[in-house]
Amino acid sequence: MPSQIVTLTVNGSPRELIARPSTTLLRALRENLGLTGTKRGCSQGACGTCTVLLDGEPVVSCLVPVVTVDGAEVTTVEGLAGADGGLSPLQQAFLDNFAQQCGFCTPGMLMSSCALLRRTPTPTRDEVCEGLSGNVCRCTGYEPIVAAVLDAADRTREVATQPSAEVGS
Ligand code: FES
Ligand code: FES
Repeated sequence: MPSQIVTLTVNGSPRELIARPSTTLLRALRENLGLTGTKRGCSQGACGTCTVLLDGEPVVSCLVPVVTVDGAEVTTVEGLAGADGGLSPLQQAFLDNFAQQCGFCTPGMLMSSCALLRRTPTPTRDEVCEGLSGNVCRCTGYEPIVAAVLDAADRTREVATQPSAEVGS
């Protein structure tokens, strides 16, 4: 099959690339679009480090042929930061809880956590563990990551319950 033009909305911006049928979403993001925050680990769907949101759902981008998702909306770790470039509450919670060491798994952990918190804003510890079960970390022992996700949920809940006058302060 010949190469084809693929159009995506990536982190809110329209992007276009030419891809072979075998080109994965992971490769397209990293090599065609220069978004190297998404990492390549196993390339077999087993480690989760390549996780991105595809139309809002977490997927391992190493297993998705990009030609099959023409027209889709993709969010990568680069899309988590605020409009001012500052860290999102989830990213800040990872930082504050020492939830990364080498950092290689972190983009995938963040994207899986982001999907989890959108689905379940106040998760239990077990729900966090289940939500991150597809993501492998060789450094942290997972505890700081779980703590970070629970912390992010707490922070979001605190902001949501503040009077509106205080939220913006
Ligand atoms: S690189 Fe995609 S799951 Fe490991
Ligand atoms: S921080 Fe090194 S693999 Fe997770």
